[in-house]
Amino acid sequence: MNKEPIKLVDNFDRTFPYLRLSVTDVCNFRCEYCLPDGYQCAEKPKFLTLMEIKRLVTAFAELGVWKIRLTGGEPSLRRDFTEIIDLIAKTDGIKNTALTTNGYRLKTDAQKWFDAGMRNINVSIDSLNKEVFHKITGHNKLETVLEGVEKSLQIGYDSVKINVVLLKDINDNALTDYINYIKDRPITVRFIELMQTGDNLYYFKRRHLSADIIRTKLLAQGWIENIRSHGAGPAINYTHPDIMGSIGLIAPYSKDFCQNCNRLRLTAVGDLRLCLFGDFGVPLRDLLQNDDQKEALKRRIMKQLDYKKSSHFLIEGETGLIPNLSATGG
Ligand code: 5AD
Ligand code: SF4
Repeated sequence: MNKEPIKLVDNFDRTFPYLRLSVTDVCNFRCEYCLPDGYQCAEKPKFLTLMEIKRLVTAFAELGVWKIRLTGGEPSLRRDFTEIIDLIAKTDGIKNTALTTNGYRLKTDAQKWFDAGMRNINVSIDSLNKEVFHKITGHNKLETVLEGVEKSLQIGYDSVKINVVLLKDINDNALTDYINYIKDRPITVRFIELMQTGDNLYYFKRRHLSADIIRTKLLAQGWIENIRSHGAGPAINYTHPDIMGSIGLIAPYSKDFCQNCNRLRLTAVGDLRLCLFGDFGVPLRDLLQNDDQKEALKRRIMKQLDYKKSSHFLIEGETGLIPNLSATGG
């Protein structure tokens, strides 16, 4: 493709170079705030096939998307996961293939994924304490996950990040643990405010905490807020002269969070979501059935951007469609 890609722009002048693509809803963890009873499904859902993913990614790349993050559920539970990475990384225009994972298979598969073209990995680790990790996720796997993180650093991924969902009375005192962990490791730890979903209202009320408590501690300890680069996305990053790693805060409940939105989302069955908390999804799957549909697909995607709202209205208690984040990948 030699043509300059068309840019996806919405009515608020935001551009969308970044697509978060869920490849499965299935997850083997039972994070308390997401799937406390584990993944349940009456009939086997039919997630996008390799060919459908190929057509989708090609169309988005021609619309200016250059970064794709694979999410889930747990993306690596798909048997054809390495093939998915390979086809995305090879698509013209895609410069950056990234993954959000619970880390369960990182240790065994990080090299294979890297060889297929994956370059950025975000791992969810809500506690560095073995027992607490076990309690939150339902799996006594902290050590294995951390070995996977170590492996990814050795392999030479462009970035390795750790996602921590901030939970009142569970990990709100864990900042020092994470700082010690990244003192000599080039890792960004991102604290994410717990978001309300259709399923977790009670948990949310009990455990939600503003990221301000982390910000206050960081500033008191000499951490410096980095200037955001244009198009950098919604995290605010902090660095410290004595620490190799960095810390990011993702605070969807803060004002202006959505101004920096640079992403679109695709569910594992091919619905386009303009916002994590949007109240509608637009099916694209019918236009993924053969290569001739590409232009129609691109037109539908562009048309939808006209409907993207300025903000998510979470503060007003609107949670949109999603029962939990295993369906939209966070
Ligand atoms: N609020 C905030 N973060 C969540 N995640 C899953 N559910 C929620 C929620 N309700 C996180 C996961 C993972 C990322 C994809 O989203 O822990 O790090
Ligand atoms: Fe699985 Fe992620 Fe949900 Fe945890 S937060 S249950 S790892 S999808």
